[in-house]
Amino acid sequence: MTAASSRFVCQSCGAEHRKWAGRCEGCGVWNAVIEEAIGATAPGGLKGKRKGRLLAFENLAGASEPPQRLASGIAELDRVFGGGLVPGSALLLGGDPGIGKSTIALQAAANLARAGLRCAYLSGEEAVDQVRLRARRLGLESAPLGLAAATNVRDIVTSLAEERADLVIVDSIQTMYLDSLDSAPGAVGQVRGAGQELIRHAKDSGAVLLLIGHVTKEGQIAGPKVLEHMVDTVLYFEGERGHQFRILRAVKNRFGPTDEIGVFEMTDHGLDEVPNPSSLFLDRRDEDVAGTVVFAGVEGSRPMLMEIQALVSPSALGTPRRAVVGWDSGRLAMVMAVLDTRCGLAMGGHDVHLNVAGGLSIREPAADLAVAAALISSMAARPLPHDGVVFGEVGLAGEVRSVSRTEARLGEAAKLGFGRAVVPARKGKAPAGSGMDIRAIGKLGALADLIYGDDGRR
Ligand code: TYD
Ligand code: MG
Repeated sequence: MTAASSRFVCQSCGAEHRKWAGRCEGCGVWNAVIEEAIGATAPGGLKGKRKGRLLAFENLAGASEPPQRLASGIAELDRVFGGGLVPGSALLLGGDPGIGKSTIALQAAANLARAGLRCAYLSGEEAVDQVRLRARRLGLESAPLGLAAATNVRDIVTSLAEERADLVIVDSIQTMYLDSLDSAPGAVGQVRGAGQELIRHAKDSGAVLLLIGHVTKEGQIAGPKVLEHMVDTVLYFEGERGHQFRILRAVKNRFGPTDEIGVFEMTDHGLDEVPNPSSLFLDRRDEDVAGTVVFAGVEGSRPMLMEIQALVSPSALGTPRRAVVGWDSGRLAMVMAVLDTRCGLAMGGHDVHLNVAGGLSIREPAADLAVAAALISSMAARPLPHDGVVFGEVGLAGEVRSVSRTEARLGEAAKLGFGRAVVPARKGKAPAGSGMDIRAIGKLGALADLIYGDDGRR
C-alpha cells in the first residue's frame, strides 16, 4: 500500500478520499476520483516562516520575441501546429487505435531529424524491431532518430537529460508509468502523473514533447481532462478507418489557431499530404442525382467543398429511422423541424439517412442549408444541378442566415469549375460573385420553391 504517499482526489469537486471510489461521495460524479502523489503541495497552506519571492510585474506591451518554430517540413502538419513546433511546448495527439498516430509521429520525427534536430522516439507499445519495420516500410530507416522501447518515466527522464533531445515523442502516454504510484499504467492517476513529469522535463529542457494518446469510445482521451489542461496543444487524428483520408485537427492551441485541419491520405507507404482536399472529397459526376448536394464549407482557414447526401424514403417502421454520418443529429432534427413547420415538408413518416461523403465530419452551422437542400431534393426526387454549391445557416424561424467567408467559399467553388451557388441573402442582396450564377435566398421556403420548380407540386 502507498497510503502514506498518495491520496485520492475527486477531479470534479476536489474532495479527498481515503481510498479509491468509482463515485465521489461529495458531488456524485462517476470516475472522477484519481490517485495523486503527495508532493510539494502538502496541506498547511502558506503558514510557516519562509516568505515568498517578490514578483516583478510587467506591461502587456513588453518586448517578447515571437517563438522560434521548428517546421516539420510536412506542410499539412505545420499548418495545424500554426507554422511549426514551439520549443518547450507539449502536445497531445489523440485518436482511435489504428488511425495512424504512430505513423505520422514517426514521419514528422524523421523529417525533423533529417533537418538536423535531435529526436527521441520512446515506444511503449511496440518493440524496437516493430518500429524499425515500420520505418523501413515508410522509407525512413536512414533518418538519424534515437529510438527506445520504454515505459518507466523515471528511466525516460534520466535518459532524456543525457540525450538532450529537441523533440521527444512518447507513444503512448497510456503505457507510461511512474513507479511511485501504485496503480497500473493507463489508470487516470498514472496518465496524469506520467504526463506531468514528462511535461515538466520538456519545459525545463526546452524540448518539444509529443504525447500520443488513445481515445476512448466516447471520444475522450483516456485519462481525460487532466492531460488536455496540462498540454499546450491538443490534436485529434480522425477519419473513418475504412476510408483512406485522415484529418488532423487542432482543438486547442496556445501557439496557433484552433480548428485548423491538415488532410492526409493513408497509402501503403505511409501518410501522404493532400494539399487540395476539395478535389479529393468530390467524386465528380456528370449526371444529376437527387439528394446529393455540394456544400461549400470552411475548415480552419481554408475553404473546402464537401458532398452531402440525403436519402428520404417512406418508412415501414413505427418510429422512422434517422441515421446521420458526419453531421450532428441534433442539427438534422432542427433542420427537419423547420422544414416541417415553415415549409410544410413533413418527413415524419419517412426514414432519413444523411451522409457526408469521404468519411468527413462537418461541424459548421453553415451546412444547414446544404443539408436542407439535400433533404428536399431527395424527398422531391428532383436533383440539383451538379455544378452547384450551397451554404448558409438556417434559423428556427425559417430564415436563412449569412455565414462568414462568403467570398472564399465561392472562390473555391469557382476554382473547381462550379458555376452556380445558392447562398444566404444579406439584406436582400447577392454578394459579389466570381462569375457564378448566384441565387441569394432569405427564407428556407425559397429553397423549396427553387428545388420543386414552378409547378409548386409538393
Ligand atoms: P498506426 O500508426 O500504427 O496507428 P496508431 O498508432 O494510431 O494506432 O497505423 C496503423 C494503421 O495504418 C494500420 O492499420 C496499417 C496502416 N498503415 C498503412 O496503411 N500504411 C502504412 O504505410 C503504415 C505504416 C500503416
Ligand atoms: Mg500506435
